[in-house]
Amino acid sequence: MKQSRSEFWSGEEYDAQYGNYCSDEISFFQDLMLHRNVLSLLDVCCGTGLVTIPLSKKLSHAVGIDFSRSMVDFAKSKSSNISNVTFYEKDAVSFDLKSVFDLIIMTGNAFQAFLADTDLSSMLENVKKHMHGNSFFVFDCRLPCPKYFETTHNYEYWSSYTSYSGENVDVYGLDSRHPTLSNTMLHRVRREYENGMQYQSYIELKYRSINEIGDRLEQHGLQLVERYADWKKTPLTESSTSFVGVVRPLYRDH
Ligand SMILES: C[S@@+](CC[C@H](N)C(=O)[O-])C[C@H]1O[C@@H](n2cnc3c(N)ncnc32)[C@H](O)[C@@H]1O
Repeated sequence: MKQSRSEFWSGEEYDAQYGNYCSDEISFFQDLMLHRNVLSLLDVCCGTGLVTIPLSKKLSHAVGIDFSRSMVDFAKSKSSNISNVTFYEKDAVSFDLKSVFDLIIMTGNAFQAFLADTDLSSMLENVKKHMHGNSFFVFDCRLPCPKYFETTHNYEYWSSYTSYSGENVDVYGLDSRHPTLSNTMLHRVRREYENGMQYQSYIELKYRSINEIGDRLEQHGLQLVERYADWKKTPLTESSTSFVGVVRPLYRDH
């Protein structure tokens, strides 16, 4: 079972809503790139390239893949005048670019999009296939904690933003447990535009513990070498609700 693409129906609207929230991720990667020999980047589940495009400036080449056409199309249009960045519409569960990258990233908690363990395994297998002995894989992920499993009975106000076309949009959400999948939430989202238009979507998010993630990584020849509570490198504690993992291949080429 795949995560619904309905929440990613418009790259333009995605950037209008979330476009200003990637600065910590970008700083984290710029710091890593400064201290390590990173020339090539693969952004898996890249969305509209919010992270890929700014990072590409310091790289020889960057590639982004995402399975939502609207996101990839907007990423392509935003980067049409940048020669060293390429975006492809591809599923992370089944892609093969036939090359390796110094740094592979997955941001925006896209790690939680892999609802089925078999899909998570295939995605990790593909990530490993695109790494060489000294590559990094870095991702973020919310952790299973009570606040993320809270449910609501009615749509509740979440937030507002200014749409791509300049209108106010109020966002409402209804949170429930997924009816069949364990440790998975189902969020129904309703966007109400100033002109009366509404857009309804939904998204499923899978929660896995750090231990489970560590085990899965090891099954695919990968190991967690650094872990933080967020992109600012806040130390991870028992009460952390999110996690940023830095991953290396288990056996390095020397
Ligand atoms: C929350 S967005 C994050 C986008 C981007 N990484 C960022 O930080 O802005 C999650 C993205 O994951 C993509 N996605 C989810 N499952 C995927 C899959 N199996 N293969 C490729 N992309 C996927 C969605 O289309 C969406 O663009």
